[in-house]
Amino acid sequence: MFFLHTRTLRTSLKMYNYRHSSAWPSQAYINGSWCNAKSGKTFNVINPATGEIIATVPDLNATDVQIAINAANIAFQSWKTTTAKERSDLLRNWYNILVKNKDYLAEIVTAEAGKPLQESLGEVSYGNSFVEWFSEEARRNYGEYVPSPIKSKEILMIRQPLGPVGLITPWNFPIAMITRKASAALAAGCTCVIKPAENTPIMALVLAKFTQEAGIPNGVFNVVTASRENTPQIGQLLCESPGIYGISFTGSTEVGKLLYKQCSSTVKRIGLELGGNAPFIVFDNADLDKAVAGAMASKFRNCGQTCVSANRFLIQKQVYSKFIDKLMEAMKKLVMGNGKDCGINLGPLINISQVEKVDRIVNDAKNKGAKILVGGKQAMNYGERFYEPTLITDVKDNMACYTEEIFGPVAVCIGFESEEEGLKIANNTNRGLAGYFYSNDLSQVWRVSKALEVGMVGVNEGIISSTEAAFGGVKESGLGREGSSHGLEDYTEIKYICFGNIQQN
Ligand code: SIN
Repeated sequence: MFFLHTRTLRTSLKMYNYRHSSAWPSQAYINGSWCNAKSGKTFNVINPATGEIIATVPDLNATDVQIAINAANIAFQSWKTTTAKERSDLLRNWYNILVKNKDYLAEIVTAEAGKPLQESLGEVSYGNSFVEWFSEEARRNYGEYVPSPIKSKEILMIRQPLGPVGLITPWNFPIAMITRKASAALAAGCTCVIKPAENTPIMALVLAKFTQEAGIPNGVFNVVTASRENTPQIGQLLCESPGIYGISFTGSTEVGKLLYKQCSSTVKRIGLELGGNAPFIVFDNADLDKAVAGAMASKFRNCGQTCVSANRFLIQKQVYSKFIDKLMEAMKKLVMGNGKDCGINLGPLINISQVEKVDRIVNDAKNKGAKILVGGKQAMNYGERFYEPTLITDVKDNMACYTEEIFGPVAVCIGFESEEEGLKIANNTNRGLAGYFYSNDLSQVWRVSKALEVGMVGVNEGIISSTEAAFGGVKESGLGREGSSHGLEDYTEIKYICFGNIQQN
């Protein structure tokens, strides 16, 4: 997830003006101050729809980030002593500012991530809801009183903040992945150093500006921007620093494994939300129209660039052709283009490297005998980061589109005979984030829900993300859960307090 292909840097050096771009901060945010890299280096932020440069931000290195870690440690000493109500009120202030600025925020998502504006508004509302949720959860960070087996002892367990944490966030949800982590961290009493993806740093800086307006103290919320080249040294510093007590990362499984390894040097807590290979199963008894609507929503949200996107459509033989015909019809209605224009529902991929990856996966399928029923190539008439919505059938398990997370607008269809076979194919992967299935048989619904080896299941539903529900995976898709009433757990430590020698009457 953290790759910006060098070809994107060869684009025109013209600076593109967005309506509000003059109000976008262009410096990193450390200890409540706006600052540049000590080296003076910067990097450009590219609009993926047009290739134009929309901002230039500081390219920090590990030395700069150490300053942010120090600031987060100093701020933690007082932040951890604030009451839950005080933290709740500050998060609520932040939430109110975010809601007031939702159109401005959506414009940024479209500009730096390429999402259609309507979808950007959806992400902003999803992102804001985490701040609202954790402003409320802050006050419910309960401990436990446990009846003691010994008369002279009392047992209490309280939750305390971990300490300063490092949050490493992806480009595919520029606002929601920061708010999902940071508002939970702040609610728990942690301070944070946020490293946003190099493709989408503007949102992180705007969020920082709004924390300042909300009255969140200096050093509690720090944003360190860096290019792809400097990202590995910053990730390593955050993971290995004794001044950072927890890491939360959303991104690729490959990078997640590296960070996990680096965290072992300080036995650091790590939350990982990594890649998926979501099966989307359609059984013979399913409502096909609902299944197609769910498939479209799951597959083409953010142009297929979400960790929970349907990656493999598994269709039971009796409805196989009918489902594919209907899916093909629906795909032909997609309107591709620059997300800021009206009526667009499919934007570009984030960068050229992502286009090359999707194209490699499609060509691999083609070369190994799959059929391409729709699309199958770059949509150059829209721009070099656009890819045609693509439908592939006759897929085999030796094809990359079967084994790899595609992260693009490519629907891969595989037929199966029995429930047992469908489940076998669905679980034949080392990933386990989300899984979906459509069925009208109640017993089958229970059986399949339990049998899918994933952290999240959509039953007759293609969009499952919700602030109130626990987001996370099994197998190599990650560790821990975000959002929901479990969302504070990654940021708290349980402390057991034993009261002894209590005199009983
Ligand atoms: C992700 O793709 O990483 C997050 C998707 C979501 O929260 O819906």
